[in-house]
Amino acid sequence: MRMNTTLVINSKGGSGKTTVATNLASYFAANDIVATLMDYDPQGSSLNWLRLRGSTGKKLYGANAAPQKGGRIRSIEMHVPSDSQELIIDAPGGASGLLLQEMLGRTDCIIIPVAPSAMDIHATANFIKDLLLGGRIRTRNIRLAVVANRVRSSMPVYQPLERFLGSLGLPFLTRISDSDVYLKAAETGNGIFEMEQSTGAAERAEFMPIVEWVGEPRNALAGGKIIALQRPRLGENVRLVSAR
Ligand SMILES: Nc1ncnc2c1ncn2[C@@H]1O[C@H](COP(=O)(O)OP(=O)(O)O)[C@@H](O)[C@H]1O
Ligand SMILES: [Mg+2]
Repeated sequence: MRMNTTLVINSKGGSGKTTVATNLASYFAANDIVATLMDYDPQGSSLNWLRLRGSTGKKLYGANAAPQKGGRIRSIEMHVPSDSQELIIDAPGGASGLLLQEMLGRTDCIIIPVAPSAMDIHATANFIKDLLLGGRIRTRNIRLAVVANRVRSSMPVYQPLERFLGSLGLPFLTRISDSDVYLKAAETGNGIFEMEQSTGAAERAEFMPIVEWVGEPRNALAGGKIIALQRPRLGENVRLVSAR
């Protein structure tokens, strides 16, 4: 079966792209699904996380797609092993132009993590508008969903964003809490799906809607018949309203 690719992206740094990308990879590793984590960010946080895993964790491939200084050829380090069933792309903040087009050209679905500040929410709404106006999402039928990250208690800040997404027919998948378990996962290279049972049960539960949404096409096919895949219902007259 062909590889399924998930791009984790937001124009804002610190919104949780690497956190979502690495923990999604950790789900695949824990479930023996062959996966490659591809890092487009020159900071290389995802690749660092892979290095922290050493040889003790379950296998995950890494691929470095960050723009190289001096125009060094990226193709070798970018190689995705052919037995990969899942590719997860960790995007840098502020990606635009050719690099953004390259990532969009690779992906089947997009997850956008959003931090709970008014500024982040507004910037994210604008980022989604730009993505949709670019046209690539529609012509390539790329699925798109948003997750709230670093949620503390029941902050109502996401309501405008939920309304905005609702008007576009885009799903708001889950709320990821602000939790030390994610910090531990980042520090140890052991994702939330690879920790001992007693740690991170709540975090795994809140992360599962992401796993399920990413796996929807695969699960539909595995059911024996091809079910029409759920696509974002982008009406002809997409209303681009402000998130404020
Ligand atoms: N849900 C969370 N709970 C606790 N810490 C988090 C959470 N999400 C992200 N972080 C921390 O916030 C920082 C930025 O997150 P990161 O995933 O690296 O963002 P990005 O990749 O979008 O720049 C990191 O130190 C990360 O460990
Ligand atoms: Mg990052």
